[in-house]
Amino acid sequence: MSDNPLAELARCLPDLRLLTEPGDLEHYGRDWTRRWTPAPLAIALPASVDEVLAVVRWANRRQVAIVPSGGRTGLSGGAVAARGELVLALERMNRVLDFDAVDRTLTVQAGITLQAVHEAARGHGLAYPVDFAARGSCSIGGNIATNAGGIRVIRYGNTREWVAALKVVAGNGELLELNRALIKNSSGYDLRQLMIGSEGTLGIVVEATLKLADPPRPSQVMLLALPDMDALMQVFALFRARLALQAFEFFTDRALQNVLAHGAQRPFDGDHPYYVVTEFDAVDEPARDAALAAFGHALEQGWVSDGVIAQSEAQAAALWRLREGITESLAPRRPYKNDVSVRVSLVPAFLHEMQALLAREYPHAEVVWFGHIGDGNLHINVLRPDELSEEAFIAQCEHVTRLLAETLQRHGGSISAEHGIGLVKRSYLDSTRSAAEIALMRGVRRVFDPNGILNPGKLFVRD
Ligand code: FAD
Ligand code: MLT
Ligand code: ZN
Repeated sequence: MSDNPLAELARCLPDLRLLTEPGDLEHYGRDWTRRWTPAPLAIALPASVDEVLAVVRWANRRQVAIVPSGGRTGLSGGAVAARGELVLALERMNRVLDFDAVDRTLTVQAGITLQAVHEAARGHGLAYPVDFAARGSCSIGGNIATNAGGIRVIRYGNTREWVAALKVVAGNGELLELNRALIKNSSGYDLRQLMIGSEGTLGIVVEATLKLADPPRPSQVMLLALPDMDALMQVFALFRARLALQAFEFFTDRALQNVLAHGAQRPFDGDHPYYVVTEFDAVDEPARDAALAAFGHALEQGWVSDGVIAQSEAQAAALWRLREGITESLAPRRPYKNDVSVRVSLVPAFLHEMQALLAREYPHAEVVWFGHIGDGNLHINVLRPDELSEEAFIAQCEHVTRLLAETLQRHGGSISAEHGIGLVKRSYLDSTRSAAEIALMRGVRRVFDPNGILNPGKLFVRD
């Protein structure tokens, strides 16, 4: 056995692309959190399942930790390599492998982008309905590993609903074919579902068979301005009862100000504290009339203070940009992010407590919140005040996150709605999961990955 594990890997797999240049280590060692200093051992870019298998078997032999890596758009540090790990990036495995018109499934390699999946589905007259702003760079493997949500969960659910089968290289170096795209399969534990949301700690997703949906029905996009927070769930209840919603997304005026400063166009004159972007089926005149009537009713009730309906695709895109551009507009300031959820029925009570907590604990920081309110999911972004050092800022945010976690616990919520736990939230996993659950999760991890080589340090505080 060679003393140098990397030299051995290169010798065993002469065709495997391996990168060790400082610029590459830096590029592949971080995700969108940009909180940790990248320090991977090297980057492996496999081109086949066989290469992934060989790398995982080598890593087991040589006790080298692997960080599975997709588009690195993750917001919780799951794809960060800061401790000498080998980054296994799937970007070269990015092909569509098969389309089945009868099953209405698309089989893809894990490194394909979400947008390429959308385009492939559209090319077959169907749709892959999971969608969000990182679509151009996030990968299906990463979406599956985080059980990504996005802007259409209210209609279609999370990634979990759309995975018919998976091919996975488990941490122990075995190739698993999970569920074989069966609709009905009551034959024991559903290991496919266990993989979804496992954040690269059980196996490396190498292929996925995705379910496809009917193409979306003709729709309209509306932007609403709201006078106060109580109106939010009133408008939601009204619109959900009267319209076939595809999306119901909310953001605050602070969020809007940041997007406008980033180049978006102001939707109305005047300022309002809260906004909603909603999209709903508008197949015919009666459906469009129903939307106008719902808007009129909300206006009469004082739940809405202004609104606009997009009259063209370009206008619809401009309205969506106000919501979808928020993350990018904040990114240069590296916000501290919380991504929390409660049951939809508990949103009003939770919002009040949360708002009071944030106002009390962050008297000097700019706090920007927005989210998938129709799913009970809120994103809280805290921006570091100039006078605070990075270290002091993170310490303050961690303190507030602990308080937030307690509030969530009282409301039966979750500390991670859709971004995953990764490095950012591992200290708070115990606020959402019981000690018994965490012990079982760690046990499951040991079964799939007995040597603990896959993404150690992520999800759990201790491996
Ligand atoms: P990465 O960041 O590369 O990895 C994420 C995790 O998955 C890591 O733990 C990694 O180890 C693991 N992983 C990656 N590939 C594999 C694989 N093949 N097998 C096993 N494990 C793997 N998320 C949402 O849920 N909803 C949103 O609305 C949303 N909007 C976003 C908007 C923007 C602008 C940005 C930057 C991010 C957004 N995200 C959102 C977060 C992020 O895009 C998702 O978490 C996405 O699923 C990550 O995919 P990725 O390929 O970039 O994964
Ligand atoms: C979003 O909903 O825009 C994403 O989850 C990204 C974020 O929270 O910043
Ligand atoms: Zn989100």
